[in-house]
Amino acid sequence: MTAIAIIGAMDEEIAHIAAALDGVTVTEEAGIKVTRGTIETNRGASIGVVATVGGMGTVNIAATTQHLIDTDRPDAVIFSGIAGNLNTNLHVNDVVLGGTLRYLDTDMRLVGQFKPGTADHPVEEYHSDDRLIGLADQALDDMGIHHIVGIIATGNYFVDDPKKVEQVIRETGADAVEMEGAAVAHVAARNDIPALVIRALSDNADTDYEDFKEFDISEYADTAAKLTVDIVKRM
Ligand code: ADE
Repeated sequence: MTAIAIIGAMDEEIAHIAAALDGVTVTEEAGIKVTRGTIETNRGASIGVVATVGGMGTVNIAATTQHLIDTDRPDAVIFSGIAGNLNTNLHVNDVVLGGTLRYLDTDMRLVGQFKPGTADHPVEEYHSDDRLIGLADQALDDMGIHHIVGIIATGNYFVDDPKKVEQVIRETGADAVEMEGAAVAHVAARNDIPALVIRALSDNADTDYEDFKEFDISEYADTAAKLTVDIVKRM
C-alpha cells in the first residue's frame, strides 16, 4: 500500500489524524478541506494519507470519495462515522464494520447496472474489503471495543422512530443505519479500490434529529482517529 484515503465524520477526527502524520499539508479543494501527510507503518514503510470530512448524505460523500480517488489514487478508502443501532444485541459505542452495505430507497435493478454490476447482472449491495475488515477487527480487539462485521443500511434520511426502524430492518436486515456507507463502497467499487466502512453506534435510532444533534460526539472523534491510524499502521 502506498496511499490511503480516510474520510471521517468530524473536523476534530481529521485534526487528530493530522496530529499522527508527518509533513502535513492542508488545502481547500472541491468544497472540502483536504489534509495530506505520511505515516510510518509498524513494518517501517511510509504510507501517504489523504484525509477529509465527507459531508452528509450519499451525494456529498460520493463527490468527496471520487475527488480523493481522482487526486490521490489511493490504494484503499477507509470511511469512519457514527450510525443508529438496529441490533438488539449491540449497544451505543459498539462498532459495526460494514461487511455488507445496502441502500435504502434505491432500485438496484437500475442503479446496480453500472460497474461493478452490468446491465444483465446488476449488483444489489456493496462490501467492505476482507483484508481491511481483518485489520480493523484486530485493531478493535486491541482497543477493547465490542464490534461485529454486519449489515449497514444507507439512506438520505435520519432514522428516529419505531416505524422507520421496522421498515429499514424489514427491507435490509441491517444492524446499523446511516447516510453514507453504501455510497462510499459504491464509488470505491466503481474505481476498483478496496473500501472499509466503520460505524460507531451513537444512538438506538429512536432520537429525534433535533435532539440528536445536541449530543456531544467529540469523544467518538478521538476513538475513530486512533482506530483509523492504527489500521493504517498495520498495513
Ligand atoms: N447517523 C447516526 N445515527 C443515525 C440515525 N439514527 N439515522 C441515520 N443516520 C444516523
